[in-house]
Amino acid sequence: MDGNRPETKARTDCLPADREGVARAANILRSGGLVAFPTETVYGLGASALNVQAVRQIFIAKGRPADNPLIVHVRDPRDAAQCGVWNALADRLARVFWPGPLTIIVRRLGVIPPEVSAGLDTVALRAPSHPAAQALLEACGLPIAAPSANRSGKPSPTTARHALDDLEGRVPLVLDGGPCAIGLESTVADVRGAFPLVLRPGAVTPEMLAMAAGECRVADSVMRALREGEDAPSPGMRHTHYAPKAKLTLVRGDPDAVRARIRQEAQGRKGVWVLAPENRLEGYDNFEIRSLGRDAQEAAQRLFYLLRQADRENVERIYCETLPQEGLGLAVMNRLARAAGFEFLDAGESGGREER
Ligand code: TXA
Ligand code: MG
Repeated sequence: MDGNRPETKARTDCLPADREGVARAANILRSGGLVAFPTETVYGLGASALNVQAVRQIFIAKGRPADNPLIVHVRDPRDAAQCGVWNALADRLARVFWPGPLTIIVRRLGVIPPEVSAGLDTVALRAPSHPAAQALLEACGLPIAAPSANRSGKPSPTTARHALDDLEGRVPLVLDGGPCAIGLESTVADVRGAFPLVLRPGAVTPEMLAMAAGECRVADSVMRALREGEDAPSPGMRHTHYAPKAKLTLVRGDPDAVRARIRQEAQGRKGVWVLAPENRLEGYDNFEIRSLGRDAQEAAQRLFYLLRQADRENVERIYCETLPQEGLGLAVMNRLARAAGFEFLDAGESGGREER
């Protein structure tokens, strides 16, 4: 039992994200309640972004630290311009990538309560492409503040089942729109400067942003732990996130050395999983092996599912091969690195010293 769970469990309904379900959800949002709903990235836990009490309930239901700001979901750039100071770069990127998995950070306008942005003078805005999310935005006529619909510290939910596993008894309604197509959270980019600065990589890659904006930078803390006393460009970076119960070790280096090292580490041990790309599975015949799929896109779709599954099966250790950090591979490796506390095991070196 979760000690933080209220004594009297409220009922949580799970409805298909059809006309009726969306209408119910819109009513709940309009009256200040919470609803978990599907997007193309991951499931979100929504509340009216204009209602401070409702926004506070999001932090409580998730067990989310109060210093971690929320994303505000809107229909389009016109709605976005009501919530934040919409500049030319924001508009250019929204025209190319919206609706879709890009969150744009601009200065916050007064209609959005500071609680949404955890007191920051900026606001994160995204127009989702999932038809159910769009129908919900249309039906409620409000900007919807929504972080991922997981309990804080768990992987983001990519199915309604996962949202229910975390939030049952804490929200009145979960809308089921099937598994999320992308499976990783949106790209978060600060566009207050001359070029986009990526704070969290996602399906809109730095390469794609550079094509649209002429140049794009990636915050260097995306692939390493923050240093002691270092300011986080995005508060989300201060928190571990995504950590499975199992100790996750990322093994990098020459492909043959990686396989040999993982086999050596996992040999004869119980409760160990090996994660590797589909075309690398054959070297692990005697191990509990799980496939990361044929490419970064498939790895993105199944990563959070696999991490949750490992918890369910009480896996104690996971050894994982690394993927190239290009395109969507950067987002996959960012989530893996965070889940591993940014620790890599270097198979290239004899004796394989652990690095931070
Ligand atoms: O795909 C997604 O983005 C999903 C779906 C539901 O839209 N949402 C999501 O929200 O992943 P959340 O709260 O789990 O992640 C939001 C991230 C956090 O890392 C947060 O710190 C960052 O965006 N963020 C939000 N507002 C920010 C701001 N004003 N400045 C910097 N970072 C911000
Ligand atoms: Mg989240």
